[in-house]
Amino acid sequence: MVSFDISRHLLIYIFLCLMLSLSSEAAVVFLANDCGSNTTTYTRNSPFHRNLNFLLSSLQSNSTRQTGFYNLTVGQQPPDTVYGLFLCRGDDTKEICRECVTSASRRILQLCPNRKTALVYYDECTLRYSNRSFFSAWGMEPALELLNTGNVSQPDRFMKLLGNTMKEIATQASNGDQLGKKYATKEVNFTSFQTLYTLAQCTLDLSVSDCETCLQTAIAYLPQCCEGKEGGRVVFPSCNVRYELYPFYRITAKPPPPPSPTQKPVLHSPPAPQSKGKNKMSSTTIIAIVVPVVVSVVIFAGGFICLLTRKSNKYDAVEQEKGDEITTMESLEFDFSTIEAATNKFSADNKLGEGGFGPVYKGKLPNGQQIAVKRLAVSSSQGAEEYKNEVALVAKLQHRNLVRLLGFCLEGAEKLLVYEFVPNKSLDCFLFDPEKQGELDWTKRYTIIRGIARGILYLHEDSRLKIIHRDLKTSNVLLDRDMNPKISDFGMARILGVDQSQGNTSRVVGTYGYMPPEYAMQGQFSIKSDVYSFGVIILEIITGRKCSNFHQTDEDEDLLSYVWKHWSSGTPLELLDPSLGSSYSRNEVIQCIHIGLLCVQEDPTLRPSVAAIVLMLNSFSVTLQAPQRPASFLIPSSNSNSLGNELVSDSSSPTPTKSVPSVNEASISDMVPR
Ligand SMILES: *[C@@H]1O[C@H](CO)[C@@H](O)[C@H](O)[C@H]1NC(C)=O
Ligand SMILES: *[C@@H]1O[C@H](CO)[C@@H](O)[C@H](O)[C@H]1NC(C)=O
Ligand SMILES: *[C@@H]1O[C@H](CO)[C@@H](O)[C@H](O)[C@H]1NC(C)=O
Ligand SMILES: *[C@@H]1O[C@H](CO)[C@@H](O)[C@H](O)[C@H]1NC(C)=O
Ligand SMILES: *[C@@H]1O[C@H](CO)[C@@H](O)[C@H](O)[C@H]1NC(C)=O
Ligand SMILES: *[C@@H]1O[C@H](CO)[C@@H](O)[C@H](O)[C@H]1NC(C)=O
Repeated sequence: MVSFDISRHLLIYIFLCLMLSLSSEAAVVFLANDCGSNTTTYTRNSPFHRNLNFLLSSLQSNSTRQTGFYNLTVGQQPPDTVYGLFLCRGDDTKEICRECVTSASRRILQLCPNRKTALVYYDECTLRYSNRSFFSAWGMEPALELLNTGNVSQPDRFMKLLGNTMKEIATQASNGDQLGKKYATKEVNFTSFQTLYTLAQCTLDLSVSDCETCLQTAIAYLPQCCEGKEGGRVVFPSCNVRYELYPFYRITAKPPPPPSPTQKPVLHSPPAPQSKGKNKMSSTTIIAIVVPVVVSVVIFAGGFICLLTRKSNKYDAVEQEKGDEITTMESLEFDFSTIEAATNKFSADNKLGEGGFGPVYKGKLPNGQQIAVKRLAVSSSQGAEEYKNEVALVAKLQHRNLVRLLGFCLEGAEKLLVYEFVPNKSLDCFLFDPEKQGELDWTKRYTIIRGIARGILYLHEDSRLKIIHRDLKTSNVLLDRDMNPKISDFGMARILGVDQSQGNTSRVVGTYGYMPPEYAMQGQFSIKSDVYSFGVIILEIITGRKCSNFHQTDEDEDLLSYVWKHWSSGTPLELLDPSLGSSYSRNEVIQCIHIGLLCVQEDPTLRPSVAAIVLMLNSFSVTLQAPQRPASFLIPSSNSNSLGNELVSDSSSPTPTKSVPSVNEASISDMVPR
């Protein structure tokens, strides 16, 4: 995985390249590149190199295909196999597609010398190759977000129109057009003199449903990158969406005046590169600003910029390698003595709490950085190398809604994990504390719900790891200074060497009350198990009540039954935490309860994906299914269903094959001896 930081240099670079491309290559506009990790390189004239050259020339010779797409595998011997594809924008003529693929194949070699994995984004095409097969799989990385800085009038109405239009073309694109392209565009009137132009496209190796999920995820990010802006796009490797208030594609029905660059209107003054975006989706996201460029200036400056750009190519590569460096093993490894000193010899005063996998201590490194150290109390069968490798992988997961793993320490039997320190406590400390509940007004709670959703989305859809958290709960959601949520304890199954793949597991990790029925009973987990836990969290945030304490109070029902009772009798607002008073958005509250109930459906297939949830939470109107009565099996009640009777007859009865989660808050791991 590559991580490059959003840097001013990169922005300038993109900007220059944009201008360069406009001037010297007339038709095609380079946007960005990503070179994978510098540890996966090939040597010159190796079989891999020869296969790559063959691949690139085949892609070029196939660039005039009618579908504007071609995928190819070259080389049968595994270590030398190269997989590659290009996708031309649906409205590209054959000439433009060929020009783009040709330019991209040349540039990918220049920008990513000797890399086994690389990708370039152009306005008109995407080209990528790898030594790993990526066909039929969609991912979010590397993502490119671009926005047009002009502000629209009536942003609320605009975003709603945008959401609806995008949703429509996402479905249309996934089903394919008559040429077999997964491409759709649509124009709608915004005001009497402004038209909204929208585009959505997927690569053809994706299935209908993967294409739709990919597009919906991309669309879900539009409000974050481009809320209220006149133009924006989100580009993922296998799909992309874009909208503008001017025609940026050739409209097929009525042949338009093709907007040649020289005629492109200047809609507003050129922006200053802006490296600070509000919600960035991940560390590999590049934010840049694209505006129609005054071409006369470009032509004038062309020769000069050409020179500059060659230099910045090199600079760009250097920037990226810095990104890789962050995750080298050495930089992740901490000395035991350093950690011991930082935590004052793991003193009781420094203890922050007892997590599911052992105690957590606060510490301060010699450079002043505050850290949280988890001292793993769980034995694992893993060797040291395996442990290190898994930590390195998990440390690469970086997202604003995840607690960052800084590194590890390994000394004898001691296994420590070092995390960034998150100043505020965990969500449960606020939510369930009568003194502090009031600090979480509805706006904060809604932000927290959305943030958690984005964090989970990143874990689930991250292109390589696809982490299932397995132990989502309010005490695993930490809050930063601004009360933004950060999920902690993710990737523990990997670090502890538990099989990550979907399926049965003989070891249950999870917390009472948050575990979906299929997990608690059969140890079956999937991404839908996390969705269940997330649903419980949403309902806790709304009601201010703990799922696991319910039966200990005088209430005779569990949280889910309580929520369902009010929902089904048409009084959902009565569920609201009284400390919220009357300042909340009725629609948002009802939407969240609705989503929460969908998440806790007993049948995992009825639970929405996190991508769909993020979409729902992003102010885009989505028609939600009506929820059915949720699973409420954990708490014995007078009329518990058969599932409930079978599983739990009192709070400490064992499940048939697993040992039982204790009722208290602590998370449970490694409950079953190997
Ligand atoms: C790709 O290359 C890297 C580095 O040489 C190697 O670690 C990895 O296993 C390769 N992947 C595949 C699928 O061959
Ligand atoms: C497309 O690529 C294949 C290799 O996969 C090559 O054999 C073929 O000649 C190319 N097609 C065209 C039209 O050049
Ligand atoms: C192209 O992608 C499809 C879909 O994943 C795959 O089945 C096919 O084998 C790929 N073609 C080549 C030549 O690799
Ligand atoms: C758009 O609005 C934001 C604040 O709402 C402002 O800072 C920015 O300058 C505006 N952009 C343009 C191009 O007018
Ligand atoms: C959009 O506006 C144009 C010009 O005002 C009009 O001709 C066209 O019918 C409108 N389209 C829709 C779908 O309302
Ligand atoms: C990868 O980049 C880092 C940082 O620039 C460098 O230290 C390291 O030697 C590079 N590794 C390879 C294999 O080139």
